[in-house]
Amino acid sequence: MVSIKSDREIELMKIAGHINYLCHKYLETKLKPGITTKEIDDLAGKFIEEHGCISSSKGYEGYPNNICISVNDEVVHGIGSDRVLEDGDIVSLDICMSYKGYHSDSAATYPVGTISKRDQELLDNTKGALMAGLAEVKAGAKLGTVSHAIETYAHEHGLSVVEELCGHGIGTELHEDPDVPNFGKEGTGLTLKAGMTLAIEPMLNLGTKHVYLLDDDWTVITADGENSAHFEHTVLVLDDGYEILTGE
Ligand code: MF3
Ligand code: CO
Repeated sequence: MVSIKSDREIELMKIAGHINYLCHKYLETKLKPGITTKEIDDLAGKFIEEHGCISSSKGYEGYPNNICISVNDEVVHGIGSDRVLEDGDIVSLDICMSYKGYHSDSAATYPVGTISKRDQELLDNTKGALMAGLAEVKAGAKLGTVSHAIETYAHEHGLSVVEELCGHGIGTELHEDPDVPNFGKEGTGLTLKAGMTLAIEPMLNLGTKHVYLLDDDWTVITADGENSAHFEHTVLVLDDGYEILTGE
């Protein structure tokens, strides 16, 4: 069932979304060569707690850490460790938290030091694909049109779309109905209504779309070892568009 949020629920999601945004801004300043991904996770855990929120990732189906940190060819769900970030890496931070029982979910991929032009384009175009999808979000629009816009933008920019993972409804649960795939057919699927809240999250690859799971049972990596990027916002569907709850 796809829920419509009340004004009060939306207020709580806006708080969870704003603190998520602030957490991204804070962690971005820490992404320098030499820091370990576990150190980033620890900083995230402290930030989330100090701001009155609870990590939605920690303990989610047994996930061990505060946030997901995925480096280079890691697509999503990487687990912070003693891995040291190096100049030229790209690192995806996927942050999920709740405030008074309402969740926010936002991801972005950041450069560490100086990255290649190809990787910078991967970052820019994955964010572009997210924004192209969001541009289709409004009451009355079909979900397939949003998915199609993401897929089309990705392909026009020479990137492949990871198909095994998708966006989702969000609210009192981190993952609610509907699924929001990053590929699809225009004019098909669910009709969006004002008051729905969605986490939209393209995961795009430089090389093959195929991915596999490492034997930690969490980390998803590209099958060909090429880099991957992930951008995600939690958004509220409006009559005439959308509002990003995890932005400025
Ligand atoms: N942000 C991820 C998603 O929407 C969820 C992370 S849950 C975790 O799929 F357990 F992997 F952390
Ligand atoms: Co998500």
